Amino acid sequence: MPAGPSARAGAACARLGLGVDLDRPFTALSGGEAARASLAAVLLVRADLLLLDEPTNDLDGHGLRTLEDFVAGYAGSVVVVSHDRAFLDRTVTRIAEVEPRSHAIVEWAGGWSDYARQRDEARDRAYAQLAEAEARRRELTALLSRRRTEARGQGGGLGERTGGADRRGTNALRTKVRQTARLLERNPLPEKPYEPWELRLALRSTGRLPTPVASLTRVVVERGTFRLGPVDLELMPGERLALTGANGAGKTTLLQALLGERELAAGTRHLGRGVVTGVIGQTRSGYDRAEPLLEVFVARAGLLPEDARTLLAKFGLGASHVGRACASLSPGERTRAHLAELQARGVNLLVLDEPTNHLDVEAIEQLELALAEWDGALVVVSHDRRFLEAVQPTRELALAAR
Ligand SMILES: Nc1ncnc2c1ncn2[C@@H]1O[C@H](COP(=O)(O)OP(=O)(O)OP(=O)(O)O)[C@@H](O)[C@H]1O
Ligand SMILES: [Mg+2]
Repeated sequence: MPAGPSARAGAACARLGLGVDLDRPFTALSGGEAARASLAAVLLVRADLLLLDEPTNDLDGHGLRTLEDFVAGYAGSVVVVSHDRAFLDRTVTRIAEVEPRSHAIVEWAGGWSDYARQRDEARDRAYAQLAEAEARRRELTALLSRRRTEARGQGGGLGERTGGADRRGTNALRTKVRQTARLLERNPLPEKPYEPWELRLALRSTGRLPTPVASLTRVVVERGTFRLGPVDLELMPGERLALTGANGAGKTTLLQALLGERELAAGTRHLGRGVVTGVIGQTRSGYDRAEPLLEVFVARAGLLPEDARTLLAKFGLGASHVGRACASLSPGERTRAHLAELQARGVNLLVLDEPTNHLDVEAIEQLELALAEWDGALVVVSHDRRFLEAVQPTRELALAAR
């Protein structure tokens, strides 16, 4: 007898290790649990073509591996939009890039690393061709001006009666001038290789950090049937703490407890004097509002509207974005607004929950560079393997799965 729909749904969820009650509302799931539920729905579909939009967001290692195996072994075709470099390396065979200048599609063979290499080589070649063309034009320009001077010199004698040999010489020189001018025309400079708009993220830490920066003592947090703790945690100045654990292990809950955003069922929380926190929450809720972006940003970042506009523009949020309701921005745009805010505000404790979700690779790499130089304290949750390597945590706190 074929399995009924709920049995199939149960099997798909089990395959993904989604052990939650299937009647639970979506809003009561952790980010990764919700992502796994969406993935379970995909596993249930028998289709020839799969379209996946940022499927790795929020998935933990096990979820990522399941997704990777599924995509790699999928008999049909898969089109995936993703900024996860490791995932792209393992799954795709061809990359179509939307060229930012022309919006044309440029195709590259292979996965992410192949793409990055080919793209860099193509850019190097384009620069080499440009340099060659510039050198050639410089030569031709110099030659042209020499020949013009020569022709003028000879032509000066033309008024006087000159012999046939002189006239022939002058004509030959003029021909050479014309030829050189034509050569110059035929050697135009190629277009400068496109340099993508670059986000420059600079994070300055402000003020000295107290010791400890923050601490949790015998903390217990409860959410429905979920219970976390008791947890003891002390964060020291200069520490870069990576909080790890499977989807649903309680990472976001623990961050919220640390930030004082969640009621404690037991234990105490302490935040040192002078600690200024900068937070990117997993749901990007700071910009999940109906008010216009500029209004919310000005209030959160403490900038004058004109300065706010200039800064947002540097993060790719221009005139067409600032007047729109925050909630109408894409998740990546909302994440960029958070990054711009961190740059503006001057904080000394960064708390980042899956910060690379939704960001494009340029922005992720900027964040990596900015964090490499960050000298304040840092607590980060991320399932992005390359990102975590780049951030170089000084300590890891692993939350056991339930
Ligand atoms: N409103 C809620 N009611 C009941 N349980 C909840 C609710 N919100 C979250 N939970 C549960 O609390 C647990 C911890 O959630 P949390 O969001 O802290 O996990 P996480 O480690 O951040 O997971 P992820 O990697 O998916 O982001 C999960 O098992 C989740 O199902
Ligand atoms: Mg979480």
